[in-house]
Amino acid sequence: MRRTLSVAVFGGLLAVSALAGCGDSDGGAEGGGGDDGQIVLGFSQVGAESGWRTANTESIKASATAAGIKLQFSDAQGKQENQISDIRGFITQKVDVIAFSPVVTSGWDAVLKEAKDAGIPVILTDRAVDSQDTSLYQSFIGSDFKVEGTKAGEWLVKEYEGKTGDVNIVELQGTTGSAPAIDRQTGFADAIKANPNLKIVKSQTGDFKRADGKTVMETFLQSVPKIDVLYAHNDDMGLGAIEAIKAAGKKPGQDIKIITVDAVKDGMTALAAGEINFIVECSPLLGDQLMETVKAVKDGKPVEKRILTKEGTFTQEEAKAALPTRKY
Ligand code: AHR
Repeated sequence: MRRTLSVAVFGGLLAVSALAGCGDSDGGAEGGGGDDGQIVLGFSQVGAESGWRTANTESIKASATAAGIKLQFSDAQGKQENQISDIRGFITQKVDVIAFSPVVTSGWDAVLKEAKDAGIPVILTDRAVDSQDTSLYQSFIGSDFKVEGTKAGEWLVKEYEGKTGDVNIVELQGTTGSAPAIDRQTGFADAIKANPNLKIVKSQTGDFKRADGKTVMETFLQSVPKIDVLYAHNDDMGLGAIEAIKAAGKKPGQDIKIITVDAVKDGMTALAAGEINFIVECSPLLGDQLMETVKAVKDGKPVEKRILTKEGTFTQEEAKAALPTRKY
């Protein structure tokens, strides 16, 4: 059993927050630095595009309540401009700490600089930014998406070991420009590249959404005469694609092998039923670590610059065993 659900803090450089403790508000702005002594956290979420995201939002809300942190939560509906305006709103409110899961990697420097100038520490969760100036944020908590792509590719290489015929792979990518889409694509491509018979014949975004996964898979099925494998960057797109595969009269998991990422309940159920063949885990349960980091940053304590989520993979048998106690 290779699966692990726990989340661990890995050793590495300790970054002492230059901003820590500077986020106290004068208490005059709405929601800012609670007069009652409560820490106020402004959080901008990507949206509600997938089962993973729903579980992540629930984890953050539950952990904030348990930690006694006042959460100002905003759903950016998948739009970077909404996240930028959320962050500006949090600065105006003088919250103690800002956290967000960036929709895409680029274009954050200006607003992060505004937060820094206002003395409000920022924590990234789930997804990274490509800012060269890493002093713009205190810590980044989340998975290694490239490793996830590598695990998916390595499983495929093993699955076709010793077979020489061409294997046609179609890929459903996550949101264009997002860290998980970029890294899961690269990790997978790198892992299979020594095997020229494993060919990615089509690769297109399904925006991490079930409906888009279905639509794009329909076009793949119409344009590619023989599809052997589907690699979907998340469960939801894989589940949408399964609907398209069935509608085309094919058997998911048999006529077309399917690899996905996340391991949310719906994905695990399809894996246990043999409609998905392999899932790489990406844990959405980041809430507790975020709240611990928020408290440390607020207290001026050193925090790890990179807090990595520990996660495993699931085969059909492992999914069957894990499902009865699966929480999300
Ligand atoms: O950033 C994490 C990814 O975003 C998840 O894998 C996907 O399901 C979600 O929408």
